[in-house]
Amino acid sequence: MTDAANPLRDALDRRLPRIAGPSGLVIFGVTGDLSRKKLMPAVYDLANRGLLPPGFSLIGFARRDWEHEDFAQVVHDSVKEHARTPFREEVWQQLSQGMRFVPGVFDDDEAFQRLKSTIEELDKSRGTGGNFAFYLSVPPKFFPTVVAQLKKHELSEGGEGSWRRAVIEKPFGHDLRSAQELNAVVHGVFQPDQVFRIDHYLGKETVQNILALRFANTMFEPLWNRSFVDHVQITMAEDIGIGGRAGYYDGIGSARDVIQNHLLQLLALTAMEEPASFGAKALLTEKLKVLNAVRLPRELGKHTVRGQYAAGWQGGQKVRGYLEEEGIDPKSKTDTFAAMRLEIDNRRWAGVPFYLRTGKRLGRRVTEIAVVFQRAPHSPFDATDTQELGQNALVIRVQPDEGITIRFGSKVPGTQMEIRDVTMDFAYGESFTESSPEAYERLLLDVLLGDANLFPRHQEVERSWEILDPVENYWDKHGKPEQYAAGTWGPQAADEMLARDGRSWRRP
Ligand code: BG6
Repeated sequence: MTDAANPLRDALDRRLPRIAGPSGLVIFGVTGDLSRKKLMPAVYDLANRGLLPPGFSLIGFARRDWEHEDFAQVVHDSVKEHARTPFREEVWQQLSQGMRFVPGVFDDDEAFQRLKSTIEELDKSRGTGGNFAFYLSVPPKFFPTVVAQLKKHELSEGGEGSWRRAVIEKPFGHDLRSAQELNAVVHGVFQPDQVFRIDHYLGKETVQNILALRFANTMFEPLWNRSFVDHVQITMAEDIGIGGRAGYYDGIGSARDVIQNHLLQLLALTAMEEPASFGAKALLTEKLKVLNAVRLPRELGKHTVRGQYAAGWQGGQKVRGYLEEEGIDPKSKTDTFAAMRLEIDNRRWAGVPFYLRTGKRLGRRVTEIAVVFQRAPHSPFDATDTQELGQNALVIRVQPDEGITIRFGSKVPGTQMEIRDVTMDFAYGESFTESSPEAYERLLLDVLLGDANLFPRHQEVERSWEILDPVENYWDKHGKPEQYAAGTWGPQAADEMLARDGRSWRRP
């Protein structure tokens, strides 16, 4: 949707809740993990918050011999286990009346005909108005079949005055070429503004707050450039291993899994220029502009690092190494840790490195963006006075412990002039009484409202692969990942990479 296509935007009272109109959601791959742990609970949480229309309907499509009631029971169990908000019988009763299950495989024409009649039946019985979003929670190899079937059975276009949308999850390909192929398949059936690509990081409150911090205030933006910033570190660290996801993860690895999407999106929001509005088109323009200015350093061997976790200790427990995980090829060269230095070739950022790192089985779970400032150009204090003074920093704590920290130097009380780092803290938990919705609640609601601001467009996805592909190709040809013990902060080479630049990683 273009910004201009939403003239009511400015007229709407922002204090009114954004409530979805008559609609329904079809989930393909409804028996998968994502669906059980995130999608079903998010649907319930939205209903519980009164943000779904009374006739909202949920259709599950999968190869199971289930009746509608069996499906409703599965949703019930998933909601009980994973929903964010308390279980309320009356909300459940209303929601569960709109649950339907369509058994079938993706190339089965009869199953798609059944889906079509189910949608028609719901339009009549629940007043869904022909408005349906199709969530493809399935491996990408099934995308072509599912979208072709939607077209063949005339499900991809709503009738007069109604809408149809497609929601797709990463991986959006595994390199530029496959991403382009995938986009061609999807766009062969759906118009670009019908397609919603989920990057769940954009649904996180703290991530949306990056733009609020930068562009709703006056005190940060004047410093947000090469004149004051020394470098930026973007970290997404996890303490978990790969769990039961060997099939997806092996051969993909951490850079494709996290850097290509989540971290490059965080970089784009941190580094982009102010958009003309907070509309999807204006955001795309600015994000794409900065992603286009991203450049990899020439010596990839020096400025990129990958690692793989070995056995170690985590949370007081002994854990296995990646190569011993179930379903992993014992010779696998898949990275579970990746770090790289990127440059941004524009007037604002020339010469300021952006260091990105992610990994599994690291010291703790933390995602943060640290903008690290230059040291004062001159110090009137004795060197010994400022021994414990680091560099000023502004840290956006994406998760957990969501908030923002500003680090600066302060005089230690006493008779001497001794200066030490202190921090000033904003914590969501202390400043707001509202708790943050789950990313999927926000994103599913936006899909139903047709609000595309928080969804990456295909141009961004393709550009992000273009940035990462040379690194993956280099890694393919040179050596293998360095092992690091589980529970540590990654391979030594990552520390050496920053040390060569005279810097060090934060230990959050
Ligand atoms: C997913 C990755 O996109 O993000 C996973 O595929 C990762 O490997 C997950 O564990 C982390 O999400 P969050 O919201 O827990 O930081």
